[in-house]
Amino acid sequence: MTNVYIGESVHRGKRRLIGYAEADRLRHMYMIGKTGVGKSTVFQNMCLQDIENGRGVCYIDPHGESIDWLLAHIPKSRLQDVVLFDPSDTEFPFGLNLLEAHDEFEKDFLVNECIQIFYKLFDPKKTGVIGPQFEHWLRNAAQTVMAGPEGGSILEIPRLFVDREFEKKKRAHLTDPLVIDFWTKQMVHTSNFHKSEMLNYFMSKFGPFINNSLMRNIMSQHVSSFEFDTLMDGKKIVLVNLSKGKIGEINAHMLGLIVMSRLQMATLKRANRASDRRTPFYLYVDEFQNFATDTFASLLSESRKYGLCMHLTNQYLTQLPDAIRDSVLGNVGTFVAFEVGAEDAKILSREFSPITEHDFIGLPRFNFYIKLMIDGKTSEAFSGMSLPPEEMRETTVMKDTVVTLNRLAYGWPRLLVEETMRRELR
Ligand SMILES: Nc1ncnc2c1ncn2[C@@H]1O[C@H](COP(=O)(O)OP(=O)(O)O)[C@@H](O)[C@H]1O
Ligand SMILES: [Mg+2]
Repeated sequence: MTNVYIGESVHRGKRRLIGYAEADRLRHMYMIGKTGVGKSTVFQNMCLQDIENGRGVCYIDPHGESIDWLLAHIPKSRLQDVVLFDPSDTEFPFGLNLLEAHDEFEKDFLVNECIQIFYKLFDPKKTGVIGPQFEHWLRNAAQTVMAGPEGGSILEIPRLFVDREFEKKKRAHLTDPLVIDFWTKQMVHTSNFHKSEMLNYFMSKFGPFINNSLMRNIMSQHVSSFEFDTLMDGKKIVLVNLSKGKIGEINAHMLGLIVMSRLQMATLKRANRASDRRTPFYLYVDEFQNFATDTFASLLSESRKYGLCMHLTNQYLTQLPDAIRDSVLGNVGTFVAFEVGAEDAKILSREFSPITEHDFIGLPRFNFYIKLMIDGKTSEAFSGMSLPPEEMRETTVMKDTVVTLNRLAYGWPRLLVEETMRRELR
């Protein structure tokens, strides 16, 4: 049964909508194409249909334009469900703590994610900028700041190595013998020279986030403003605006990676539930290569059992790290390809045979080839066109209402956040 329309196909002069069924959506959709061909519009159109049909969605938008468009079209009856995370709203920062954990599974998962995120941001090609040594320190330091009922954030990690009182307070809560050994067997024998070297190393990675008040006010709050398990179960509309123009590229990537980690964690935790209690949730990630770690590659192969339907897009296959590209090509049920460059056309012609390299290079805007999952099987490739976007409607009232509701429900006044931070530092 059709659950959403992707676009339309034209066969012997007749137009037909391309329907996509719920069970098939669990096998995920990947879309590729040069800039300007209409990719974001396809996702916006699909996401709006999901919203109109009362489903839960998350849209991760690196430009902000898709979110503005969605906000202008969301029906009034669903305004209450919108969770708008806009980090550039500095007066009412949301809290987003990568290391907020409620049990041992979450702790382990998040410490691993933390390491992966640092690789992704600072050493994506694994050239040794971040090596086993940093990993070891980071793992133990992250476990230590998380210890105790008050928890902690990654921004407190450097403090562990300069503030003895803080270090003592945190260590008193440790229970993991390996982490205890790190402090009692290893750190006590580490010279001050090495410690300061380690501190410099941490500061070079964490410093930019600590010194930026926008990032500090979001990342240092111990309690995150939202948890994905509740949002997914409650069929919320989660809009994540990561417009780099407003907050800077590395900050946008960092926040996107944290959001994705916390979403993945909530998804994996659904494994413990009966399958009829895994309410489907629809995730859209534009320019997804910026927000995907290696964990994500493995989730792509498994998440259908968890009720997470993913929609991913980016511009070039060559942009994707090998593990992620292989996972996308190997696992995705529905594949949409607009015009691409010569290098990608070669790869696509193998995936989409009998469509040729040449076909992909010459595709007009808004036209694509699609291999659609139908009843659990991927179809032969056929051609289609995207649906034009509905015109922007009057947006300001809607957007203002959503912003006000969200500031009250999820944000904290900036002065309060900063005061809490000062008190903790005392
Ligand atoms: N089917 C369509 N018909 C008409 N205009 C379209 C269609 N699809 C997209 N557009 C317009 O084309 C422009 C580029 O689309 P966009 O979705 O932003 O492309 P991309 O994400 O691939 O860069 C936008 O202004 C959009 O409104
Ligand atoms: Mg786009």
